[in-house]
Amino acid sequence: MNKPLTTPSSYDVTKVRADFPILAREVHGKPLVYLDSAASAQKPQQVIDAITRVYSHEYANVHRGAYYLSETATAAYEAAREKVRGFINAAHVSEVVFTKGATEAINLVAATWGRKFLKEGDEIVLTTVEHHSNIVPWQLLREAVGCVLTVVPVAADGSIDIAEFAKAIGPKTKLVAVAHVSNVLGTVLPVRDIADLAHAAGAKILLDGCQGIVHAHVDVQDLGCDFYVFSGHKLYGPTGIGVLWARQELLEAMPPYQGGGDMIDTVTFAKTTWAPPPAKFEAGTPPIVQAIGLGAAIDYLNSLDRVAAAKHETALLRYAMSSLQQVPGIRLIGTAPGKAAVQSFVMDGAHPHDLATVLDRSGVCVRAGHHCAQPLMDVLGVTATTRASFGIYNTMAEVDALIAALRRAQEVLL
Ligand code: ALA
Repeated sequence: MNKPLTTPSSYDVTKVRADFPILAREVHGKPLVYLDSAASAQKPQQVIDAITRVYSHEYANVHRGAYYLSETATAAYEAAREKVRGFINAAHVSEVVFTKGATEAINLVAATWGRKFLKEGDEIVLTTVEHHSNIVPWQLLREAVGCVLTVVPVAADGSIDIAEFAKAIGPKTKLVAVAHVSNVLGTVLPVRDIADLAHAAGAKILLDGCQGIVHAHVDVQDLGCDFYVFSGHKLYGPTGIGVLWARQELLEAMPPYQGGGDMIDTVTFAKTTWAPPPAKFEAGTPPIVQAIGLGAAIDYLNSLDRVAAAKHETALLRYAMSSLQQVPGIRLIGTAPGKAAVQSFVMDGAHPHDLATVLDRSGVCVRAGHHCAQPLMDVLGVTATTRASFGIYNTMAEVDALIAALRRAQEVLL
């Protein structure tokens, strides 16, 4: 394991926690210990206030009204797009497409770019660690066009050797679609090197950034990717909003995903022409308030020292890993160097679901199950794991609470 780190003195976790009202509540008469941010993060008051303000004072449909409220809502919706652009350092605001989540964003790419540009025998390279949302859309594409899925294996510690990508990527590869960070193992994939290999083979690269964007600064131009997707709700924003970022020329070449209002230029019964991106991919009334809420979450994150926040999360992870290893019968799943603050584990003699249920009685929220990554569970030789995942608001005392709850669970379950 890497040498221990401590939280930077400039990072005031108590102040951060005070921004998240839910963290003050109790569950089953115990203080809430929320260790499931990889599934969905809690929301700061600033995001809650932004949503309430829009619905209370500034709400109307966007891109349609010639009246003040609609213009205000449109400006706020498009300002949120610009906030996303800045947050990921996209070259153009028109490269940011709002979706209802990362899952929809990947399905959009598979159904549009994939169906237009892939044919029988073309290869898509995935990894063993992918979330179902970065597997199943490609399987649907395989059924439609006859492409082939190639899977890069994961090592026992959860790391993925770049040499395995060099073996898997070849002249038939048209797309490499991989997680930036594994939601089960916390492994940070060597995405810049993978992008270079993909491009050298003439392929495109899509990054599932759901966990990656949460833990570190993302610069889509530096990463060298072609598509980057993420969900708002894991980034301390609302549910029902996600982002597809793609290079401008790709969005221009892709056909629309859904037809409807707002995505057209002209419509006649004989022929319809499309609006330019991003509108081409945002049919119907979009998730207006959710997008504005995501913008508020980005403002909130930008108000923090994100480097210090990342170091704090790493310190939490290191402390959790060493503390968990001191509990008899616990085995860590995922120990790759440089990993993000997500820790899966199994405990001898206890099913992860039973364990999570017992931990809940102590106020500790963890996720148990296959984490939407059944192929990874098969390779790991387990049916499920228990997973603690850490966010900007967690504390060392909450790691201690997890460990104490695990010891109590052993008394109940074993
Ligand atoms: N994909 C989310 C998780 O890992 C839901 O929990």
